[in-house]
Amino acid sequence: RLGNVVVAGSINVDTFLRVPHLPAPGETLIASRSSVRLGGKGANQAMAARRAGCRVTMVGAVGDDRTSRHPLRVLASSGVDAQHVQVIRGAATGSAVIAVDDAGENLIIVDPGANARLERFEAAAALADAAVLVVQGEMPMTFTAEAVVAASRVGVRVIVNLAPFTRWLAEFSVADPLILNEVEAGQLLGAQPGGPEDIAEVASRLLGYCRSAVVTIGARGAVLVTESGALHIAAPSISDVIDSTGAGDAFVGVTAAALAFGRTLPSSVRAGVEAASESVRHEGAGESYPDFISILAR
Ligand code: RIB
Ligand code: NA
Repeated sequence: RLGNVVVAGSINVDTFLRVPHLPAPGETLIASRSSVRLGGKGANQAMAARRAGCRVTMVGAVGDDRTSRHPLRVLASSGVDAQHVQVIRGAATGSAVIAVDDAGENLIIVDPGANARLERFEAAAALADAAVLVVQGEMPMTFTAEAVVAASRVGVRVIVNLAPFTRWLAEFSVADPLILNEVEAGQLLGAQPGGPEDIAEVASRLLGYCRSAVVTIGARGAVLVTESGALHIAAPSISDVIDSTGAGDAFVGVTAAALAFGRTLPSSVRAGVEAASESVRHEGAGESYPDFISILAR
């Protein structure tokens, strides 16, 4: 099982538009360039774990349109096993429009397409020799809950990244860890965290929901909370931020990879933080992640 990761999640095609600033309501903006790349939080996380050296199986869906060719080609050429990716007849492949400004900030709008049509998790076989399962919030809740239950039944460690936040299900309480950003943590707890000093407190409250929790705090890194207390893992400072899209997914995928290789939770979160920091120096998400193997070798 060592080094085997299953990601049950979304697959999108991202259209990136580089803009001088993010548009205001009613504003028409001219992009300086555009590009089309693999995206979707699930596919991005699968790519991150793969670039960290794991054997990765992707469970998800695309449509039967031409758009599906690009993500399937990228997954295959990267060595991600896509035999559990279903092609849904009559559905469009999930897509996202992403505007990125000169400071690397983004604005994302997602059309879920085929992702929204995959309501059952039918890939229990893929979990047989997995170390870790990763799920997020972009798929139907029935699919995600079934994947979590199937994994815990066969002793596979579950990482729940409830991004975007939808709603909490009792099934997610096996999460080890639950990974949320500050906004999502606020949505789960019914309150927005105040300042950075409150994050450890917020993270501790998350422990009431799961086995361990991580709150990611952007350029400041992440806070890990387990029964033995809270630990702030600072991110290296990056001066050349190009695009922060998919940084959270790089964090999740590489944290999952390190756990799958048997690393401790603190050491895995540290690897995730380093990978996320490295990812912002590249335009795009999963398809443009660099090699993360050196991070795990540290
Ligand atoms: O987290 C970034 C991802 O969110 C993008 O790739 C986009 O497709 C959306 O799913
Ligand atoms: Na990026």
